[in-house]
Amino acid sequence: MKEIDWSKLGFHYTEPDYIVRSAYHNGVWEEPYATKDKYLHLHVSATCLQYGQEAFEGLKAFRGVDGKIRIFRWRDNARRMAKSAEGLFMAPVPEELFGRAIRLALEKNMDFLPPYGTGAALYFRPLLIGTTPRLGVGPGRDFEFIVIPSPIGPYYPGKFHCTSFIVNRYVDRAAPYGTGKFKVGGNYASSFRATEAAHAMGMDCIFLDAKYHRYIDECSAANFIGIRRVAGDSQPFGTVEYLTPKSSAILPSITNDSLMALARERGYKVTRRRIRLEELADMSEAAACGTACVISPIDRVLDTERGVTYSFGSEPGPVLSELYHALRDIQFGRAEDKHNWCEIFEILKS
Ligand SMILES: Cc1ncc(COP(=O)(O)O)c(C=O)c1O
Repeated sequence: MKEIDWSKLGFHYTEPDYIVRSAYHNGVWEEPYATKDKYLHLHVSATCLQYGQEAFEGLKAFRGVDGKIRIFRWRDNARRMAKSAEGLFMAPVPEELFGRAIRLALEKNMDFLPPYGTGAALYFRPLLIGTTPRLGVGPGRDFEFIVIPSPIGPYYPGKFHCTSFIVNRYVDRAAPYGTGKFKVGGNYASSFRATEAAHAMGMDCIFLDAKYHRYIDECSAANFIGIRRVAGDSQPFGTVEYLTPKSSAILPSITNDSLMALARERGYKVTRRRIRLEELADMSEAAACGTACVISPIDRVLDTERGVTYSFGSEPGPVLSELYHALRDIQFGRAEDKHNWCEIFEILKS
């Protein structure tokens, strides 16, 4: 085990011992291999550099309460990366090869897997890039798949807490029929102007749909969740409704999908539809969700242009807190994994 203060890591890159690489030429993927070399010998005209032909992913492995190592929903990341590849005219990484690369990256970096109880995890950043040299505009035919592991600290080193968001209307993250539903670098570069301005104010930013600037799309690099109590129902406090945006421009979050399943299990109504910004006024809780944080509860959303502030209380609300702990419990082996989301990692036999 490395001498690392796991609780102080944060969501930052810590150099692992090995990365895993696999190249694609003439229609064939090579078997993934581990290497200590973190640099690429890449042609200056590679399509990833010239035309942004690249996609990436993010997933985690956890050391559980029972000492077992769990990789969370890697097949869903593999499938989403295949969709991103299709969206950018790249060769998809075969699902089983993706899985072998993740397992190899884990096996070769076991010393970086944080101990149970620290709240930290080993994060994997799978990356797919176009490597064919090309100056004429067009896609490449050669690709490289790379898995970069890095231990990351607990998202909430102290207590589970809230973040404030500001509504952005001057930067469109992704167009309705654009690349927003794919996890590709261009979406992030194009949102930096808005996210950095929000960070400078100690907040994160909400992206509205690019066509009408009326509906909630994404919360920085995460999906949005709102909780609404539907009054007048048979239950004493009414029905709890879990609301999340339906949009062709947002990334289908694997965390959101997991939370929706957990919400349904608890008898909550789950609704995925277009959500107008003003509907925030009817919600009792709101949050961003994604692999990094699971759930990042929102205390307030500032719509400075319209002079409106939507407030949700300074502490995380009961429904989102319950869902957050339920998912963390599955990831750390403290609760039954009824959905088979976790793959128990076995050391590879070479
Ligand atoms: C734009 C965007 N939306 C949503 C998410 C959340 O997705 P996931 O839960 O699969 O991490 C991410 C993070 O991957 C993201 O970058």
